[in-house]
Amino acid sequence: MPYFAVVARKDAERVRKQLMDEGKINGGCKIIDKGNFVYIPVKEPINGYKCVEVNNCDRVRRPRKGGYRNHPLIPASLRNKLPRSYDIIGDIAVIKIGEEFAEHFSAIGKAIVETNKNVKVVLRDKGVKGVYRLRELEHMYGECRYSTIHKEYGVILHVDLRAAYFSPRLAGEHYRIAKLVGDGEIVLDMFAGVGPFSIMIAKYSNAGVVYANDINSGAYELVKKNVEANGVKNVIPLNMDAKEVFKVLEELPNRVIMNNPHNSLSFLPIVAKNVASCVVHLYAIVENDALNKFCDEVRGVIENCGRSIEAINLIKLHPYSPNSRLVCYDFQIL
Ligand SMILES: C[S@@+](CC[C@H](N)C(=O)[O-])C[C@H]1O[C@@H](n2cnc3c(N)ncnc32)[C@H](O)[C@@H]1O
Repeated sequence: MPYFAVVARKDAERVRKQLMDEGKINGGCKIIDKGNFVYIPVKEPINGYKCVEVNNCDRVRRPRKGGYRNHPLIPASLRNKLPRSYDIIGDIAVIKIGEEFAEHFSAIGKAIVETNKNVKVVLRDKGVKGVYRLRELEHMYGECRYSTIHKEYGVILHVDLRAAYFSPRLAGEHYRIAKLVGDGEIVLDMFAGVGPFSIMIAKYSNAGVVYANDINSGAYELVKKNVEANGVKNVIPLNMDAKEVFKVLEELPNRVIMNNPHNSLSFLPIVAKNVASCVVHLYAIVENDALNKFCDEVRGVIENCGRSIEAINLIKLHPYSPNSRLVCYDFQIL
């Protein structure tokens, strides 16, 4: 029988990440929700945690062994050259794949659909571009559409991949931040996209007000739709340049989310000059060997604005390139 570590709900996400980093999670079983406690599947009993055996737990359904690359439609000579994985957004699969495979796009798309029963559309990801961070996409297989409904942690998200940025890889971050928000907090989501941070916060915390801002009117329309779809009452969608957004806030934020990883740092002085005491979650792409330098740079920006900074956490997220990764620097401006 598989083992589960019994963890208080408030600690569950932190412990899950720690166990994941240490390679101790049993990926074959699903996490069990037991109200105030969460059971995290582990490979073996772990010192320091109460561990229990659970009969008849839910198993994680794995895609067909070897994934789409082992589908009969894929020539054997291509199998090891094709990307192992792809993102799934609602019922759309988005795959980064080179032009050299163009003659096989339709077969690859069909193989993905046939090895993943939830996928109805396959799109080729040609990169994220511009201020709005829109993905350049090419239809590969299935219905020709770019919008879908994605769900993460029970949050419903209407997504239109041609109208606004969205990545399913940030689900854990959306949830992590939501669980940090204290009762009555005023939150500013400066670069909200379709609103996943804001709506997750509204759903999983007792925040006072959450301002969900994005300069892209396509994102703004989707935030409004997602507010409605989730029945949350305290999210205020805004469609402004983040440089101007403090002018319209009725209350100063206690927490600011800056998820515009290619350009967050340039907006930091605006935050530092406008907030009182405030927690910031600043996302950035950082070279793997320059993490300390990045933290020093952030400190420099804050101190140049006449403020001081208290570091809370530097979270290393997924790789962006062989030498760099997405990070989230959590800190307090004092
Ligand atoms: C990485 S995406 C945000 C993703 C979103 N937070 C999420 O978790 O899905 C960055 C967003 O910043 C927005 N953006 C870029 N420059 C901006 C600005 N000056 N003011 C407000 N939003 C901006 C883009 O339109 C884009 O939607």
